[in-house]
Amino acid sequence: MAAALLAGSALTATTATADETSIATVVKIAGIQWFNRMEEGVNQFAEDNGVNAFQVGPAQADPQQQAALIEDMIAQGVDALAVVPMSPEALEPVLGRAMEQGITVITHEAAAQQNTNYDIEAFRNEDFGANLMEQLATCMGGEGEYAVFVGSLTSQTHNQWVDGAIAHQEANYPNMTLVGDKNETFDDAQNAYQKAQEVLRAFPNVKGMQGSASTDVAGIGLAIEERGMEDDTCVFGTSLPSIAGQYLETGAVDGIGFWDPSVAGYAMNKLAMMVMNGEEVTDGMDLGLEGYESVALEGKVIYGQAWVNVNKDNMADYPF
Ligand SMILES: *[C@@H]1O[C@H](CO)[C@@H](O)[C@H](O)[C@H]1NC(C)=O
Ligand SMILES: *[C@@H]1O[C@H](CO)[C@@H](O)[C@H](O)[C@H]1NC(C)=O
Repeated sequence: MAAALLAGSALTATTATADETSIATVVKIAGIQWFNRMEEGVNQFAEDNGVNAFQVGPAQADPQQQAALIEDMIAQGVDALAVVPMSPEALEPVLGRAMEQGITVITHEAAAQQNTNYDIEAFRNEDFGANLMEQLATCMGGEGEYAVFVGSLTSQTHNQWVDGAIAHQEANYPNMTLVGDKNETFDDAQNAYQKAQEVLRAFPNVKGMQGSASTDVAGIGLAIEERGMEDDTCVFGTSLPSIAGQYLETGAVDGIGFWDPSVAGYAMNKLAMMVMNGEEVTDGMDLGLEGYESVALEGKVIYGQAWVNVNKDNMADYPF
């Protein structure tokens, strides 16, 4: 199955049939842990609802390949598309054609998407950043110096996370001080490691660090371990157990946050069914899924509060 999907063809196993509702979830790329986890949610939805819900993704994280795969799905006659766009802009034309043909379109991680019935986001980015800061502040006892890291100054999500964190600190923890500017790591653990060393040299009293790219806390954690500062520092950030787990175990990293792609995949498919059934989506409604019990609706964008906070005690529950 995986091999066929990687080839982006030979989709016989998933061909839509006339009498069965079919929902194609089209992800950025096939075969990586994040989207394998999403596929679990899609398959669960299929099982729970007796519909032909399945997931496909291009072999490379390439907007053109993803657009071509969506064209294939339209040609197959799927009833709905649940898409995690590699590039929302690049997909506008093909999603527009899908909608013209009466195909329901749901997107995820694409709040600015125009050609979609609804876009669903796990959370508001500023709230997620504040959630990480709340844990950092608790760990730091509400006082001391901290530094922040982003993958890049142009990454909108990373900057929203960090800005939400800083605002939360300023409003609630006056005895904490941000030191340095946003450190850029270019989504590379080695860069994060070097930047963390710079921060530790420049600010010997620094007690806290908050990362944004999934690799940030891994690089920071290595720098903390090398200096034996596990018990003196607090490190939190966006990451996954598969990336940060070894540092969570040693205490070099204290906690990570993310959203569970299996729940997001399930939620996209559920929304697609609701739209196809003519059910109304309303502000404050309960989608019946963890983190999506009271969603906010703004225009076509649905926000949950579906962050997952993980430390060494619960990391085994999230094997991805
Ligand atoms: C901040 O520090 C001062 C001086 O130590 C202390 O009196 C005050 O209670 C602290 N404020 C908060 C909100 O922790
Ligand atoms: C990174 O951290 C260092 C040390 O704290 C700081 O001097 C610098 O301004 C920060 N920002 C960037 C973009 O490197």
